[in-house]
Formats: sequence, structure tokens, C-alpha cells
Amino acid sequence: MPPHAAPVADPLPETTLGLRFPEGFQWGAATSAYQIEGAAKEDGRGDSVWDAFCREPGRVRDGDNGDVAADHYHRYPADLDLMKSLGLHSYRFSIAWPRVLPDGSGAVNRRGLDFYRRLVDGLHQRGITPMATLFHWDLPQALQELGGWENRDTAYRFAEFAAEVFDTLAADVPNWLTINEPKTVVQNGYLWGVHAPGFVNSDAAYVVAHHLALAHGLAVAALRASGARARIGPAFNLHPTYPMDDSDAAREAAKLADGYENRLYLDPVFRGRYPADVLDDLGSDSGLARSIRDGDLDIISAPVDMLAVQYYCPIYLDATGATVRRWPTSEAFWQQIYPDGLYDILTRVARDYGPIPISITENGIPCVDELTSEDTVDDPGRIVFLRDHFAAAHRAVEAGVNLESYHVWSLLDNFEWQEGYAQRWGLVFVDYPTQRRVLKRSARWYRGVIARNEV
Ligand code: FCB
Repeated sequence: MPPHAAPVADPLPETTLGLRFPEGFQWGAATSAYQIEGAAKEDGRGDSVWDAFCREPGRVRDGDNGDVAADHYHRYPADLDLMKSLGLHSYRFSIAWPRVLPDGSGAVNRRGLDFYRRLVDGLHQRGITPMATLFHWDLPQALQELGGWENRDTAYRFAEFAAEVFDTLAADVPNWLTINEPKTVVQNGYLWGVHAPGFVNSDAAYVVAHHLALAHGLAVAALRASGARARIGPAFNLHPTYPMDDSDAAREAAKLADGYENRLYLDPVFRGRYPADVLDDLGSDSGLARSIRDGDLDIISAPVDMLAVQYYCPIYLDATGATVRRWPTSEAFWQQIYPDGLYDILTRVARDYGPIPISITENGIPCVDELTSEDTVDDPGRIVFLRDHFAAAHRAVEAGVNLESYHVWSLLDNFEWQEGYAQRWGLVFVDYPTQRRVLKRSARWYRGVIARNEV
């Protein structure tokens, strides 16, 4: 396969494969607060690290920011109607911590919480089950100024935020996710510095990894303490890792990469310990080793009700330990299109961590989407991508994986972090100058998949 090839456009991607999903399987779509809401300065919202990061010249493509985004904060009723028209069963969104606690802690901003109250009510009115993420990277800037996730206290502030949110919404939101992709915060935010807060500091990165895990555990405890019967779990972006050849060196590199990509996040939650190979590799004085206090791993490994898996691509390692590309990419340079990787990671998680209910909470692809004169967007590449990944998920279900739901990333085109608005990931096209929504061909196709419960 040539690298950087566009996804293959199958002439008839809508043809069904005859793969029926189990009765009650939940089809959905996902978004996050900073990426779609806009209204960055309204109703008392405080600054987040992403507002601050966007203000730093050169950080985000074209100097874009989330001030307006898809204007969902104002347009949510129409967006809810759109979700209903697609037949979504489940909608995954995130709650902006700086809307609820503009200073990160202290006084609750009722107007901020009320937005999510209206959103949740609107979902129920349309028969759509809410799934809420507590943290999708928009840390209040006030807490960043106190050290952000490098500061252990931030985990406790997060638990207080979670408790406030549960108090208002836990009775009506049956599914909660704690931290979205802690690994992305560690890697993009602290190893490579391409996401907020934009640091390049490997010692701090693994301090942050531990505090994010602790925050997860404390939020689970807060939900249990609230008495609500809702379910909760972590949301991990998992990457199956493979050796590029059959040398021992490549195999060992793939195994250690699996430690850093997957087990570093899964093991503390599901096994109550960090993986020994990663701890050894980081060294006995690493930020991770120094941050762990007695009792932390008991908090982190408190039982969860579900695991949210986000899958975009595999990782291949060669005998020198370098990562290499094997499959075609997309508009996102880091993506490799390999649907079997989804099957591999789902079956592996079920095998190694037990029969926990799994939701796919993100999977998708950015395409070169253009509005035609007929007011449509023709995106067969996205249909092929999703069809093949749905088929891989179906195979995993047949192999016994307890998969409950599948959320496509994303419902709408949105602010794609350091890429600004240059990448379009939505099922629904957003014409930013007018904020008009246009269903892409993939959205119409997805509506059919949902209606038939079959791909
Ligand atoms: C994931 C993020 C999500 C979106 C997709 C493309 O890593 O959780 O917000 O940016 O990638």
C-alpha cells in the first residue's frame, strides 16, 4: 500500500453486508464541549486551557479557536432534532468544567449547569440516551495556573466538579465517562506539546498520567457516593501494536509500545497496578513512580461498570523500535486505516481484562468534504471506513465481546484541536459562515444502518 493514499472509494459503499447487530445494540454519535459549543464567554463560562492555548500564536492552524465553533450552545435544539432524524439511540457529549466552575473550584455557575440540564432533557424528549464525559480536555485555566494536572490537587478539584455535576444530572444520565483519552493529554499535551497546555516535559507527562488516573478513581467514588444508579467508566484510545517483521527486536518493541499505549491506562483501573515493563522503562525515579502514594491504586481500581474504547489506528514497530506506517492514512496524518485493528483490540481487551461491557465511544475519519451545488456532501470514503469498522466490530461481537454501543466521531464537523477547522470529521457538514447543517451522504447511510440494525 502506498503511504498517504486516500481511502478507497468503493463505487457502491451503501450495499449492505448482511451483518445484523444484536437486538438492543445502541448506535450513536459523539462530540465534545470545546469542539462544538462556542459561546466561550457566555453565561459565566470561565477560560479553559484550550482558550489560552488558542491565543498563543502558532499553536492552532490558521489561528482558529473555539469561540464560536459549531455554535451548538445556541443551536442545540436543532441539533437534537437532527440526532432524532438520524435515529440515534445514544449521544455522547462532554460537560465543560469551566462552564460549571469558572474558576475550577468554588462557586458553581448555575447557568452553565442549566445548559446541560436543557440538553439532557431535550435528549430524553427525543428518546435518545445521554452519555456524558466529565473531562474532554478543557481544564479551567485557573487550575492550570496552579499547576494543572501536574498538581495532585487538580484530581481532588475534579472530584468536586464531578460531585456537583452528579448532583444535578446523575439521575437522568445513565452513562458517565470520567476522563477522555488520558493518553492524549500525556502525549500531545506534555510529551509533544501540540495540545494544551503545550509542554514538552517527559517527567511531567507521567506525573500527569498518574493524576489523571487518580482523578478517574475519585470521580468513580463521587458517583457511588451520590447514590445514583448510573454507570461509569474510563474512555481510552487504544492502539493495537504490532511488530512490523518477525524479528525478536520488533516483537519486543511492539510489546513495550503496548505498555505505553494501552496497559499504562488499562492496568491501574482493571488490575490495580501499573505495568512493570513501563515502570522499569521509565526508571525508579520517574514522575510516575514518584507520584504514586499509598492507597492511590485502590482508589483508581475501584470497580467500574463499563469501558469506553476509542479506536482510530494501529501502531507498527520495526526492529529499531521506530514506529512505521503500514496502511493508508487520511486527512489526519497520524491515522492508518486498518479496521481489523478494532477487532484485535476489542477481543484482546475482553480476553485480558474480562467480560466488562464495552462501548465504542469514538471512531471516524476526516475527509475532504465539500458542499456541492445540489446542497449535498458526497463522502463515500467515510461510508467505506465506517462500514468496514462496523463489520470488524460485528466480528468482535460474534467472537463474544460484550459490545453494547458504537458512537461515530463525530456528529458534526467541529474544532479539531491544533488542526482548527481544517479537518472535517462530522456525519453532518457545518457551513461555518452560516452555521447551516447539511447531512453528508454518510449520515444518510448511517440512518439506514441504524434503522436496519445491520451493516
Ligand atoms: C480523539 C478526540 C476527539 C477528536 C478525535 C478526532 O482523540 O478524543 O476529541 O479530536 O480524536
